[in-house]
Amino acid sequence: MTRPAIRQASAADVPAVAALERDVFGPDAWDEPAVLAELEGPGRRFVVAAGPAGELAGYAVSMTLGDIVDLQRIAVHPSSRRSGLATALLEDLLAHPGPADRMLLEVSERNQSALAFYAAHGFSRIDVRPRYYRDGADALVLHRALTPPRDPSGTMAP
Ligand SMILES: CC(C)(COP(=O)(O)OP(=O)(O)OC[C@H]1O[C@@H](n2cnc3c(N)ncnc32)[C@H](O)[C@@H]1OP(=O)(O)O)[C@@H](O)C(=O)NCCC(=O)NCCS
Repeated sequence: MTRPAIRQASAADVPAVAALERDVFGPDAWDEPAVLAELEGPGRRFVVAAGPAGELAGYAVSMTLGDIVDLQRIAVHPSSRRSGLATALLEDLLAHPGPADRMLLEVSERNQSALAFYAAHGFSRIDVRPRYYRDGADALVLHRALTPPRDPSGTMAP
């Protein structure tokens, strides 16, 4: 598969991101001012992926505060899923953590696709926030260390 094109978002992407938000998150979607606030907020990295015709196929946003980078959002259009797009978006955010040494995120206990995605990328559960979501579902707090793993010889991986 050719690697999807990932680039940093600009103000021109705001309407398309807000439209995809509505499709994917319904009543919990960010509206255009909320998307713009994320784009311009401190510590944010906001990246988008283009589909075959140049259309917005997915996006992801992180916020770094000290030694923690929070994954604020990651979403892929239903027609582009299971082709590695979210993986490419997440890898970009993981490669640009600022001073953070771990990534945290919250996900609904009922979001099986996202749970499978995060498990595939090495996240593990560290906490639960009961009845956190509008539908009464718990939020699971997941965590992944960003420190490069040591290789078996004891030297740091390059
Ligand atoms: C979760 C989400 C971002 C994954 O996007 P994606 O582009 O389909 O993910 P990828 O193609 O990079 O998947 C990588 C791996 O994650 C796992 N995975 C992803 N979606 C999965 C699913 N529905 N079921 C099982 N495993 C899944 C698989 O291991 C997959 O590898 P494989 O396709 O080789 O088996 C997408 O389903 C989505 O947008 N969901 C709605 C928004 C959302 O819930 N966001 C997270 C909470 S904010």
